[in-house]
Amino acid sequence: MSPAPRRDGPRDLSPQSESGVPGFQPASVHRGEPFSKTPPARRTGASLLPGPATPDPSARVPLEGFPLHPRVVEILRETGIRELYPPQAEALAPVLAGKSLLLACPTSSGKSLVAYMALVHAALEGRRGVYIVPLRALASEKYQDLEPFRRLGLKIGLTMGERDLSSEELEGIDILVSTSEKVDSLLRHRNPWMDRVGVVVADEVHLLRDPGRGPTLEVSLTRLRRRQRGLQVVALSATVGNSQDLARWLSAVHVASAFRPVPLHPGVFREGVLSFLDGSEKPQPSRGTAVEQLVHGALDEGGQALVFVNSRRSTVSVASALSRGVGARLSEGSRAALQEVLSDLDRVGEEETESVRQLRSLVPHGVAFHNASLTNPERAVVERAFREGKLRCLVATTTLAMGLNLPARRVIVRDTTRYDEALGSPVALPAMEVQQMLGRAGRPRYDPYGEAVLIARDLSEEEELRERYLTAPPENVESRLASVAVLRTHVLALVASGEVRSWEELEDFLRSTYYGQEESIEALGAHLRAARAFLETNGLLRGGEPLRATDFGHLTSDLYLDPVSAVLLRRALSRASPSTPPIAYLATLASTPDLAPLYLRAGEEADMTARYAGLAPALLLKPEEDELLPDFDSFLGTLKTASLLEAWLDDRRTLVEITGTFHIGAGDLRTRVERAEWLLSAMAELARRERRGVARALDLLSLRVRYGIREELSELVLLRGIGRVRSRLLYDAGWRDVATLAKADLPAVSGVLGSPALAEGVLDQARSYHHPSRAVRLPPADRGEA
Ligand SMILES: Nc1ncnc2c1ncn2[C@@H]1O[C@H](COP(=O)(O)OP(=O)(O)OP(=O)(O)O)[C@@H](O)[C@H]1O
Ligand SMILES: [Mg+2]
Repeated sequence: MSPAPRRDGPRDLSPQSESGVPGFQPASVHRGEPFSKTPPARRTGASLLPGPATPDPSARVPLEGFPLHPRVVEILRETGIRELYPPQAEALAPVLAGKSLLLACPTSSGKSLVAYMALVHAALEGRRGVYIVPLRALASEKYQDLEPFRRLGLKIGLTMGERDLSSEELEGIDILVSTSEKVDSLLRHRNPWMDRVGVVVADEVHLLRDPGRGPTLEVSLTRLRRRQRGLQVVALSATVGNSQDLARWLSAVHVASAFRPVPLHPGVFREGVLSFLDGSEKPQPSRGTAVEQLVHGALDEGGQALVFVNSRRSTVSVASALSRGVGARLSEGSRAALQEVLSDLDRVGEEETESVRQLRSLVPHGVAFHNASLTNPERAVVERAFREGKLRCLVATTTLAMGLNLPARRVIVRDTTRYDEALGSPVALPAMEVQQMLGRAGRPRYDPYGEAVLIARDLSEEEELRERYLTAPPENVESRLASVAVLRTHVLALVASGEVRSWEELEDFLRSTYYGQEESIEALGAHLRAARAFLETNGLLRGGEPLRATDFGHLTSDLYLDPVSAVLLRRALSRASPSTPPIAYLATLASTPDLAPLYLRAGEEADMTARYAGLAPALLLKPEEDELLPDFDSFLGTLKTASLLEAWLDDRRTLVEITGTFHIGAGDLRTRVERAEWLLSAMAELARRERRGVARALDLLSLRVRYGIREELSELVLLRGIGRVRSRLLYDAGWRDVATLAKADLPAVSGVLGSPALAEGVLDQARSYHHPSRAVRLPPADRGEA
């Protein structure tokens, strides 16, 4: 590691006033007025259509005028940043002066850079920083962007996925890139690392309006701000109607701009012609479907194309339809580069997946798909190949919609509706979501311009699409805190961590949320009462005041369980015995709100009903007996999830066969495996408090779920580099445990594993296995993906 920051390099940063930037007039900087009487302006400006007030896209502000550390400027230059865009310049001055900021700008306007500067500047002054993102892929991108600043002696960390960083791993980290769940988890664990955090970045803060991710971010930001009065918050938002309200909530300087460094031309394609909003038109090559015409049109201009569709199946079928035509255009050089992508795909998993099989036939044509069927490492290979220009066209679901920097000259959103399971019919996508997808086009450093295209069948649809998605005023951000499920979880966490000790303090907390600013918290009353009743009746909170969590409540919050899941797991445990079969545990996990169920396909209902009838006597929880379980029909879906996990535990079944049987992708299996492993270890933790006998069985099951193995392989998988497939090879070759393997000779093991280097590493581990100080430990983080 490089030397500690506080000993490295000069720190004599000369402070400069907010307006002290030469040659620069801050035009739209406003202080958020917490008690302003005038209602903030709503729905200002158009979202995609650059209005007359758009600054000149060629306008740039020199870096020299800012109180940045000279070595920071040097690193920026080396990474290709020589000047700032006008909104960056507007935002940077207050940020470097330690003020909070709400920056609302179009996609691609370089918002992250302002956040990076805030973090690096603070870190050099000894204040820690956290960069909060909503998605793993974004976390990786931000982490990589921050890497060059390591040269200043700063330690950059990354946390995402199911595992928390330990206190030792956090030690010395100056800047942590984290998903919002991980920040919530660090707060719940009262991790002392958080105490010295001086600046927090909330990226994609408009996601406060997302019912899934919004409340966690809202509560975390509120908690952080209340813990530390002077906390600097840098919030980055898409163009929204009420960014002034967000700024007011965060007591932040408000910088909003319509500036986009790379012009984005929005348009609608109909009957062979692409009509842009500015009135210009581009006829497209007339071959194949609308998507094919548009993709070839983009390739004709030398760009790459990104297509968004609304189902995974479509990503594959559209990519296949495109592959022949795109492949015919490739040069010899590009074909060779695509072979490298194939080798990368082969390297990411121990076992082949269906998606990789499909990609193998597409990638040589310069086309690929990207969806949640892919595992995270597979997605990373596809993203990189597209970024490097090896893949000319990518067809994706919304997995690629947000925040990422991709070289897409033309983005084509084919579908603007999504099938709504609850309604049983398609619904129109929110404008903000479509605009996020369209905003992937025309990113600085990749393309001189971008084209954002929707597809219409007829004139009336064309008009509707324009109005709804291209010229509509931006949408507002509203809080999603008003939900019993949300309050149940967060009230427990607030009480368990000691942050709230009475109902009055809780109300005070809620008043300081974004919800509390926008609405009267009396409106939360009914939800709050229901949440409280649940927590008290189920023994998570003690009744009365001061508010206190029970041991069970503390454990639930620390384990990051949904309170409903915790109650279900505890109930199941009270009925478990050493002879409980694995499927009964798996069915328990699958029926909690912490594990997303699989949908039943037509015809599967009868199979699952029959399976239920057979399993019912062994199940620990049954829908007819438990009011907290989903109704019978939905329960069948959870049983299907349990059956999937059970199939995964049989390593003699291949991944391709399992995912084929359940009609899912390896990525879906992977996410459920990670959740199930985590729930099993939580359940084991609960069991340790009460019934030691089953805790051990749960630990073993958790290990088996992690690797997807029969019990007999559970020792071999403890060796690094050995997973589901290789442990089976070793076992079937006669090395059934580590002690026997330690006595094997290298050529024999190498013959079985097909790699001398791997065999050597494995034998080294096996031979030191019994040495007490070098005992083999479970590898962290990269579970089962090796
Ligand atoms: N001043 C600059 N000069 C050159 N390139 C820049 C500058 N600022 C940012 N960039 C580049 O612009 C690209 C887009 O930046 P960024 O990802 O921060 O956009 P964004 O505003 O966050 O967009 P989105 O809303 O889509 O997330 C990045 O590749 C970044 O490196
Ligand atoms: Mg961004």
